[in-house]
Amino acid sequence: MIAKQINEKPASVLGLATGSTPLGTYGKLVEMNKAGAVDFSHVVSFNLDEYCGLSRDNPQSYHYFMMKNLFSHINIDKRNINIPNGAAKNFDKECKRYEKLIADAGGIDLQLLGIGRNGHIGFNEPDTVFHNKTRKVELTADTIDANKRFFEREADVPRQALTMGIGTIMAARKIMLLAGPDKREIIDKLKTEVVSPQLPASILHYHPDCTIIFAKGK
Ligand code: F6R
Repeated sequence: MIAKQINEKPASVLGLATGSTPLGTYGKLVEMNKAGAVDFSHVVSFNLDEYCGLSRDNPQSYHYFMMKNLFSHINIDKRNINIPNGAAKNFDKECKRYEKLIADAGGIDLQLLGIGRNGHIGFNEPDTVFHNKTRKVELTADTIDANKRFFEREADVPRQALTMGIGTIMAARKIMLLAGPDKREIIDKLKTEVVSPQLPASILHYHPDCTIIFAKGK
């Protein structure tokens, strides 16, 4: 789906996610790019989120993650890569700047998402406001617990992040959410529970072009 999007519109604007889930997808895109099956030279990207307080060269930052797992292996123009600046002096200004960059790029054509065990998308935690734009958020204890695997100590996990809002995500023309077998419980809830701010991903039921790919496992 991602390669098709880029092949049909070479200057596509992609929304991208970090975390374990899209790693296989990124590996495949790298392979396809090396084989000449997809060309990123005109693609513009916007990542969903970044931890507050981490600079781009911090190995735990999402900027570092994206460079390591995707951007340094494909022919994307580095000037077209956008990730919220977690080291910004003024987070409010940074979030407004980010929203404007997305608008100036013409909006997001295809947004890739993962899902948290608690139903978050981006870092929009339960009790989210559906029309929110990019902003600073407090991470929940559950998310800090889920993400501590990437850090030496739980105390090192940042407590705050900058994230696109649900409003930003829902404005994407196409959405693709990936979930592996570890997300069975939350995917089941997504199928059966009503749309509510307690389950942020539930709003995707109202998106006109959203695909959820759930790998059940064995
Ligand atoms: C990452 C993001 C998060 C993750 C979610 C799932 O940029 O916004 O919403 O997609 O926490 O993470 P994994 O894939 O590590 O289970």
